[in-house]
Amino acid sequence: MNKSIHRRDFLKGAGALALAASLPINLVELAFADSSQNFTFAYISDAHIQHISGNKFVRNWDRGLIRAVAETNLLTPKPDFVFFGGDLAQLGTKPELDHGAEIMSSLRYKTHYVMGEHDYYLDMGEYWEKLFGPQYYSFDHKGVHFIVLNSVRTYDDWTYNRWPTAEQRMLEMAGLDNPNGSPFMVGEVQRKWLKEDLDKVDKKTPLVVLSHSPLQKIYKGWNFWTEDAEEIQALLQPFAKVSVIYGHVHQIQYNQIGNISFNAVMATAWPWPYPQSYAQAESLLPKMTVPMNRADPFFERDATGWQFINMNSGNVDMTFTLYNNAVRTVRYNPKTGRPEDVTYQAEDARIPAQTHY
Ligand SMILES: [Fe+2]
Ligand SMILES: [Fe+2]
Repeated sequence: MNKSIHRRDFLKGAGALALAASLPINLVELAFADSSQNFTFAYISDAHIQHISGNKFVRNWDRGLIRAVAETNLLTPKPDFVFFGGDLAQLGTKPELDHGAEIMSSLRYKTHYVMGEHDYYLDMGEYWEKLFGPQYYSFDHKGVHFIVLNSVRTYDDWTYNRWPTAEQRMLEMAGLDNPNGSPFMVGEVQRKWLKEDLDKVDKKTPLVVLSHSPLQKIYKGWNFWTEDAEEIQALLQPFAKVSVIYGHVHQIQYNQIGNISFNAVMATAWPWPYPQSYAQAESLLPKMTVPMNRADPFFERDATGWQFINMNSGNVDMTFTLYNNAVRTVRYNPKTGRPEDVTYQAEDARIPAQTHY
């Protein structure tokens, strides 16, 4: 073999990979009138690290997270910190959480974690807490109050009495459309904590709330849902600017309810379908959300992606970069008081679905 040609081919391949890479991370920029306060943070979500056996894990999910971590380390400007939005593991096991934590440990930034149902329902988050800290908390950063909630809890009876083993409980909650699942909720304990936490915050302070499930009701059958969403929203409404950023749905979604803007982030693992694609679904997908184009089943990373988030005067603008798809920008429109897709919001401007054959 001619070594020099071999090496040149390798370098060419590496260059093409770098050019083609649009990696599944989300850069969040908070922009203020006083630009010296601006800062960014990155958001990675829904890695679903899945153990096969021994030291084998599902390769696609590993690669999605490894690439997101690598890209986050290369960001300019450097983010002040990173959020992980939940579902680090697939079935909440120690090997999965350890492996996910090991991949995440390559990040060169402080990282905050959100609990996903796939992390939670094996041991109710006990091992996750040892690795990553409390399940709900708040902190202040450069004039913004950040709140993290565990929004994937459910009724105690379902959790503690219904299933003979912890493994079965985890499997029942892990399925997207398993009718044995139970609605997600924040629950009374955290709602009380949230109320006390918010009582101490000036109503003009911008709030950024991180949850795993949407803090709004979209489709109960797939748990694109939080049972006590209205109660959480009522606690957030008195604040002038509120942004809720959530994972779990693995797709672009956005909405506006009163003062609260909602934006979903995409997954590093795989895209979920939209609820309205399921004939039996009563979908409450926000009417303003223009769905992503459908994923190409032959392209492992299609419909996963990353987004830049600009929070101007307390309102979120997001630019989504999707694998093999057009860039999408969802910007808060002060005239209509809601986020809108800059290019595709109008009915007649929407992209026809991909044809699969
Ligand atoms: Fe997920
Ligand atoms: Fe989830």
